[in-house]
Amino acid sequence: MTPDLFSTPGTADRAEELRRLLQEHGHRYYVLDDPQIADAEYDSLFRELQTIEAQHPELVTADSPTRRVGGMALAAFVSVRHAVPMLSIRTETDTQASGAKNFDSRVRRELELEEAAPEVDYVTEPKFDGLAMNLRYEAGLLVQAATRGDGAVGEDVTQNIRTIGQIPLRLPAAVPQVLEVRGEVYMRRDDFEALNQRQRDSGQKTFVNPRNAAAGAVRQLDPAVAAQRPLSFFAYGVGEISPVERGGPSFATHFELLQTLKAWGFPVSDLVSTAQGADGLTAYYQSIGRQRDGLGFDIDGVVYKVNSLAWQARMGFVTREPRWAVAHKFPAQEQSTTVLGIEVQVGRTGKLTPVAKLAPVFVGGVTVTNATLHNEDEARRKDVRVGDTVIVRRAGDVIPEVVAVVLEKRPPGAQEFSMLRQCPVCGSAAVREQGEVDYRCTGGLFCSAQRKQAILHFAQRRAVEVEGLGDKLVDQLVDSELVRTLPDLYRLSLSTLTPLDRMAEKSAQKLLEALQKSKETTLPRFLFGLGIRHVGEATAKELARHFGKLNAIMDASPEELLQVSDIGPIVAESLHAFFAQAHNREVIEDLRECGVCWTEAEPAPVVSKPLAGKTFVITGTLPSLSRDEARDLIEAAGGKVAGSVSKKTSFVVAGSEAGSKLERAVELGLAVLNEQDLRGLLDGSA
Ligand code: IVH
Repeated sequence: MTPDLFSTPGTADRAEELRRLLQEHGHRYYVLDDPQIADAEYDSLFRELQTIEAQHPELVTADSPTRRVGGMALAAFVSVRHAVPMLSIRTETDTQASGAKNFDSRVRRELELEEAAPEVDYVTEPKFDGLAMNLRYEAGLLVQAATRGDGAVGEDVTQNIRTIGQIPLRLPAAVPQVLEVRGEVYMRRDDFEALNQRQRDSGQKTFVNPRNAAAGAVRQLDPAVAAQRPLSFFAYGVGEISPVERGGPSFATHFELLQTLKAWGFPVSDLVSTAQGADGLTAYYQSIGRQRDGLGFDIDGVVYKVNSLAWQARMGFVTREPRWAVAHKFPAQEQSTTVLGIEVQVGRTGKLTPVAKLAPVFVGGVTVTNATLHNEDEARRKDVRVGDTVIVRRAGDVIPEVVAVVLEKRPPGAQEFSMLRQCPVCGSAAVREQGEVDYRCTGGLFCSAQRKQAILHFAQRRAVEVEGLGDKLVDQLVDSELVRTLPDLYRLSLSTLTPLDRMAEKSAQKLLEALQKSKETTLPRFLFGLGIRHVGEATAKELARHFGKLNAIMDASPEELLQVSDIGPIVAESLHAFFAQAHNREVIEDLRECGVCWTEAEPAPVVSKPLAGKTFVITGTLPSLSRDEARDLIEAAGGKVAGSVSKKTSFVVAGSEAGSKLERAVELGLAVLNEQDLRGLLDGSA
């Protein structure tokens, strides 16, 4: 539709209509995550409105979606006195069920409830890890956004907050004359990762965590820069609001209030719920705790609020904290500690990895004493030095990481880290090839560290699996020179083993049995176990499926290897180079002579792959398939199986007692299949 730029009445109507359309579709996109028009269509409406406004500045309104971005850089923020003070919440740091019990008992006591009185009704919410914001609307228009500050006086950050697509600039007609909505401004984890990547790409400083990034964006004086830092918002309460006698709403409960905010267009988390009594609170705490790592944003606990507003009023405040709410924290995922040293470790492929040795610190539920610094560049970028105080993060099962150095606490004279030019284990030269980030020991299997890692890799559960062959034992076997190469494992005997330190006859016997058992393996496991660079489990499976026989793989040219799905030039080159080495072929021959065997197959015909490009997550117990079986079937049909649910997951296959992964799938609106559905997909009947 071409805008009628010359007849102002029609243009004014069109501008009004465009604002309404953009507001509606913006809400669907940003808040409901359920867009109904294509992005390009939205952009075209947006540009149409921009054009009209450029030519008719008199038609610009304060709530126009085009006003979200822009404005001048500020010299400083203006102070704002809050109409209603912004309170904080009492924190319960007892991370056990007793934390919830304490609060419930206190509430019952303060409300003077009889022992026999029914359970108290609560609203339970995540404790979002961002920063509190007060959004003031007058006559339905956003007029001011202010930070919490000291609770009494905050800062006016309206320009920056306008850039948050989830925050309505205009509310439906029926809202109270004055309405202050309170909630948390935060940064989603994916937005945070993308922002840090952009910062790195442009040589700028990265942010320690999403909360710091969000705080920086909110307090960014240049709104154009702020607009580049995508923020999100969850509403959890109100500040000043017109009283009922002046047309304000009347709510009986906090839950009703949140539902109303949602109806008015504010994002309210789907994780908000109600709970009864201490047991209800505990169940919520545990359920959210399980989901924590899979959420798209950081939370540091949950918040319990007495649902009845009348009861809230009766309970009142102590100093700046309401008696009717508490924040029940989760174990911290970040802690500070000191760096005792930086060690360089040697990996299976000779890769040298700098590792920070830390004063033990309890973080993310475990005691952490090591954190990888990945490589020289990374160590220098973070500039971690011995003696530094650092912030360590461990979230979920992710390996602990040093996220930042507290520079103010750096001891004088701390030396910058530089990479060793020699392998710390075998003394061979360490080199960094062009275009690579890693230094590698050039010692190959001369390097005992590499030999040890190669053996451990071969013996692991997912490779040929030698039960009980752990790192202590491998250290002994290699250090005593009983084992130099993989086949040496199969030449061990009772008489060579028992002289070893702490090796009783019984454990020697057990190891020999495990070795015997490991001989019967499969081609993919064997291939993976060889530890060829870039050949992981999935690639090994693909190779075995494609070629069927080991000799065919060993003799394949790089071009032939490239025919295998998922194999690119780097992997093909790595495989070819590995099998071109005579000593690698000898090791394989030797292993076969020692009795290591597997069944070989005919090369796979080129089959259709109904599940190609699809990612599955399996959770719970399926009626007849084990998880490994389901995984094999999916992979054979070209699909991938991932460990955690994300937006990229195509299907979640759920059996009985599926837990947080299923909850997460439902939250993301993903397709959930049962075993029968999966079989349908596999045989093409669904
Ligand atoms: S309610 C009267 N609810 O925690 C209680 N706060 O110390 C006022 N926060 O600064 C706050 N999630 O930024 C409330 N679901 C939630 C919250 C929450 C995070 C933050 C908020 C506040 C701090 C309280």
